[in-house]
Amino acid sequence: MSSVIYRSPALYELLMRVLYATHYRSRLRAISELIEDDCEVVDLCCGPGALYRLELRGRGIDYTGLDINPRFVARLQELGANSIQADVAARSDLPKGDYLIMLSSLYQFLPGNREEDSSASDEGERSARLLVERMLEAARSRVIIAEPIRNFAQSRNPVLRRVASRLTNPGTADQPVRFDEQSLDGFFDSFEGSLERCFAIPGGREKVYVLRGRGQA
Ligand SMILES: C[S@@+](CC[C@H](N)C(=O)[O-])C[C@H]1O[C@@H](n2cnc3c(N)ncnc32)[C@H](O)[C@@H]1O
Repeated sequence: MSSVIYRSPALYELLMRVLYATHYRSRLRAISELIEDDCEVVDLCCGPGALYRLELRGRGIDYTGLDINPRFVARLQELGANSIQADVAARSDLPKGDYLIMLSSLYQFLPGNREEDSSASDEGERSARLLVERMLEAARSRVIIAEPIRNFAQSRNPVLRRVASRLTNPGTADQPVRFDEQSLDGFFDSFEGSLERCFAIPGGREKVYVLRGRGQA
């Protein structure tokens, strides 16, 4: 069962505002500024749609959000966006778009954060690396990935670590494994040929990686 923070879009949004504090809007703006008007955006693990609602809506952008959480998918539908309920790790056919993006979600596909189930054909299919490969194939212009590099789940305090790991369970498993800046940079080293730029978002909680897509126009 998913943790309490994923049961209500409003509660999730509130927690994000507390977590990012004064950088909440500038984080979303930093992503939005990488995306031009009048294009197609596919947002994996989109949550309840803050990026769409606060930044992308009204810019002629054809936005599709995918999330495993039916409550978040319903919220996006209320906002007027396309939304699909899906486990993105289990989909070999990601929707195509100019931009394939994923915010604060890559860690969920690291070994140790997913329980095996019968839908898994092999470990590789569910790995973070393969998911990024699929995003590159589906993106006609860019893949944009923002990922936290400072996490309570990596606190020295074991109680805080356990609480953070449980609180971020999206319904698949507790989430004890996270990137830090070094491991995240190391992860993207193998995409060096596609990597265009990377930078820290305001506040330094997350790092953004921009990669050239390989999708056909
Ligand atoms: C930390 S939240 C990030 C949400 C949003 N991208 C943001 O930045 O606010 C992680 C999101 O990933 C979704 N999620 C977790 N595992 C997923 C999976 N296997 N497939 C699709 N969505 C998933 C959760 O439901 C949740 O909405």
